[in-house]
Amino acid sequence: MNMQGKALLLYSGGLDTSVMIKWLQEKLGYEVSTLTLDVGQEKNNLIEIAKKAKRLGARETITRDVTETFANQYVAKGIMSDALYEGVYPLSTSLARPLMAKEAVEIAHDLDCDTIVHGSTGKGNDQVRFEVSIRALDDSLKVIAPVRDMNMNRDDEIEYAIKNGIEIPYGGKYSVDENLWGRSVEGSSIEDIAQGIPDDAYQWVKPAEKAKDDPDIVSIDFEYGIPVALNNKKMDLKSLIIELDKLSGDNGVGGIQLIEDRVVGIKSHEFYECPAAVTLITAHKYLGNAVLNKKELDLKKTIDNHFSDFVYSGLWFDPVMDHINNIEKSINHAYNGSVSLKLYKGNIIPIGIESKNSIYNIEFSSYGKGQTFDQSKSPGFIYVYGNETILTRKARNGIGVEVELKA
Ligand code: ARG
Repeated sequence: MNMQGKALLLYSGGLDTSVMIKWLQEKLGYEVSTLTLDVGQEKNNLIEIAKKAKRLGARETITRDVTETFANQYVAKGIMSDALYEGVYPLSTSLARPLMAKEAVEIAHDLDCDTIVHGSTGKGNDQVRFEVSIRALDDSLKVIAPVRDMNMNRDDEIEYAIKNGIEIPYGGKYSVDENLWGRSVEGSSIEDIAQGIPDDAYQWVKPAEKAKDDPDIVSIDFEYGIPVALNNKKMDLKSLIIELDKLSGDNGVGGIQLIEDRVVGIKSHEFYECPAAVTLITAHKYLGNAVLNKKELDLKKTIDNHFSDFVYSGLWFDPVMDHINNIEKSINHAYNGSVSLKLYKGNIIPIGIESKNSIYNIEFSSYGKGQTFDQSKSPGFIYVYGNETILTRKARNGIGVEVELKA
């Protein structure tokens, strides 16, 4: 066996990456160390996973809980940017990948590894996110993805696992990725877009008809765009998300179905469960409507869209993200206050907003008595405002300015 070098494997404990520990040693001659990260996934026994890696011959087995960093440095930026890819997906998987890549590069340096190994296939977005991020941080590291590069299929893996005494964990019938910000579910009957999402894909969210009968009212306090309290209880973001996940999920909030456009040019059918994410972004957007003016809201929509597209596409470490995050930070300066919402059978119904930064001024906008808006100024404004339309119509002689649709 010729020694290829030292590899650091991003190890989840699942079948793919367990097979890899052996494979990398046996077939490719690597000395293998593993890195297992806690980003808030549900069933997660880091100690057991590390032990398993040791049994399979790993040299060092590093485990790290990065959930807090994930919440405060990654998820928080997603909230500030109202980040929803294609309008609905809160980027739960996408946001975690650059952090995982960053940790991997750091540990690879510590352990003197020249290669980082990840378990992505060749069809998804995660390969793009891992590899662009790792290269952006250290272009001299080699990155390999054996499931993709060796074209292994699941049957080959199971056969190899049995031969090598690797226990096969029960992964269920779906391909699932979990973290603090959400749960991504793919594969099996979800791949058939003619069918709805089967009940057994739901874990964190109650399907609407099984949700509880009485609503919950929640209030969320924001400071500079970041949630800081739930139901008047101050909390760090990580704990707030965990608590809100349960409240929202029990009320059927946070199930998302999307025919999604992947970076590699294919469409895929995805199901996500992101109860806290959906609730927090709804609250954040609602607060934005009170504290930003129309021009700021319009600008924000454009910046938000870039944030989501770039994060989805693996560009977290592109310098453009610094500009985007700086603009978002500046816009979010006004996002202070409390938003209350009713959660009920899959719906989020806004109830109220209190904010010292609210632009909404009842004296100006009320139709009732005591208003201060001087209506006598409106006709002059409307005359000047209408000039552009009226002059253009005149110049066109009224031709081609109102499209007729065929009956
Ligand atoms: N399509 C999602 C994304 O690209 C989720 C992929 C998650 N992976 C999984 N094995 N379910 O962000």
